[in-house]
Amino acid sequence: MSKQIVEPCTYVIFGATGNLSRRKLMPALYHLEEAQRLPHGTVILALSRRDWSRETWIEEVRGMVSGQARGGLDEAVFERFAHRLQYLRADLNEDSAYEQIRTLLDEDEAYPSNAAFYMALRPAEFGVVVDKLKSSGISREEHGWRRVVIEKPFGYDLESAQRLQKHLHHCLDEHQVYRIDHYLGKGTVQNILVYRFANVLMEPLWNRNYIDHVQITHSETIGIAGRADYYDGAGALRDMLQSHLMQLLTLVAMEPPPSMDAESLRDEKVKVLKSIRPITPSAVHAHSFRAQYTSGIINGEKVKSYLEEDGVPPDSTTETYAALKLYIDNWRWRGVPFYLRTGKRMAEAKSAVSIRFKVPPQHLFRNTPVERVKPDWLLLGIQPYECVRLEMQVKEPGLEMKTRTTSLDASLRRDDEAAYDAYEDLLLDVIEGDRTLFLRYDEVEWAWRVVDPVVRTWATERDFIHTYPAGTWGPQETRRLFDKEDQFWRHSLLPDED
Ligand SMILES: NC(=O)c1ccc[n+]([C@@H]2O[C@H](COP(=O)([O-])OP(=O)(O)OC[C@H]3O[C@@H](n4cnc5c(N)ncnc54)[C@H](OP(=O)(O)O)[C@@H]3O)[C@@H](O)[C@H]2O)c1
Repeated sequence: MSKQIVEPCTYVIFGATGNLSRRKLMPALYHLEEAQRLPHGTVILALSRRDWSRETWIEEVRGMVSGQARGGLDEAVFERFAHRLQYLRADLNEDSAYEQIRTLLDEDEAYPSNAAFYMALRPAEFGVVVDKLKSSGISREEHGWRRVVIEKPFGYDLESAQRLQKHLHHCLDEHQVYRIDHYLGKGTVQNILVYRFANVLMEPLWNRNYIDHVQITHSETIGIAGRADYYDGAGALRDMLQSHLMQLLTLVAMEPPPSMDAESLRDEKVKVLKSIRPITPSAVHAHSFRAQYTSGIINGEKVKSYLEEDGVPPDSTTETYAALKLYIDNWRWRGVPFYLRTGKRMAEAKSAVSIRFKVPPQHLFRNTPVERVKPDWLLLGIQPYECVRLEMQVKEPGLEMKTRTTSLDASLRRDDEAAYDAYEDLLLDVIEGDRTLFLRYDEVEWAWRVVDPVVRTWATERDFIHTYPAGTWGPQETRRLFDKEDQFWRHSLLPDED
């Protein structure tokens, strides 16, 4: 992270007592404090309905941070951090909350007048907050900038995303809106761009002449973690695939932008999304697959089926596994399938992009023990293994002409380099006004356009869903998405483990 020191701001966290704030935002802000990246004078103002004093809040934050602080909590850093922490007991539905915030920003010198508003709230609450930020006059940039960070999901289908955008547009200027997708804050995701565009080796191969297909996987071993009220209405397609996986697809498939500034990058990503072949209603079955987990074993322990999870209706057909096959109909990618899949309660927790190259001509080896030369793979591990690995075929030592797979490892991080959380980068970008890693509305809309036919079809076909035992890689039937017999889901980032 090499960022400029910038002006201080008041970071207002709506929903500061919630899950996202506890797990991600507060630890990330603490780490920014530790790295001395928070501008001097910056205040972090938590807003919630709980009847807490500032002292209680500081102790709460200590609890949120201490378990996650890298190398343990540093008391001196925490003391500095605690100086910034303020607490406002307020209900976001009431005008008085905004009057208080406005008074602090306009009249209290301890509160910088630049202000970021982070919506760590349920999506249903985004609308009322932006309305009131506008009606109270807070969103007007008279004495400093005002920025609003919107958490995902941005809508639950194309129509609702359009409605939400209309609402935002009415209340804020586009330059004030930061739509977050924390995947884009991950160093390994940004490394896709560096790997592609800072190395001359790959570019000549990065197209339909040499690439057979691309797989993008995000698998989790956890279930729905008590969030049935949200998850049962969303499902895997909306929750993960429309957002994170589509973002990965754009980074893998985009043309080199003229520069790394936010608009150039986002223009290229949108071009990819616009080039994806629309899935017609009659093609939905050929291009998509969904399933739900039944009970099974994860890490040696028996886990419940989705239908047995608390709060899930007994007849739910919400998918916990979703896979799509997409084609990008442009010069670079015509005819190359992109297979995307995501699931809960799977065999392993992993995010990766696996790119399979075409099978080389076999003729040369026809009179040797080499039966079939395997295709090369490029494996981009995103989490938990951060790696760039190129698998190639080499000759086995010995007298016979036999091949085996070896891999060139260009891992991103050395063991002595600490991993940082994506939210650290993104929270800092908001203060610095850098929107490169945030979504522009047309990206979100075009991603919805791609999945919307599938969302609609699945919403009407509610009487049957495939199942897979928890702890597995999903049902065998997903194979039907593959274009060719020799294509298969690549689960492992190591050679010959699938
Ligand atoms: N949790 C995650 O890991 C995660 C990951 C990615 C994205 N997200 C997104 O982040 C957002 C927040 O998720 P979450 O899991 O943190 O939700 P959550 O745990 O339910 O937290 C929501 C917070 O909103 C506050 N709130 C609700 N109504 C309020 C009101 N009328 N006035 C003031 N505060 C109010 C609550 O605070 P009080 O009850 O104290 O008032 C609560 O702390 C969602 O959009 C979610 O999709 C979450």
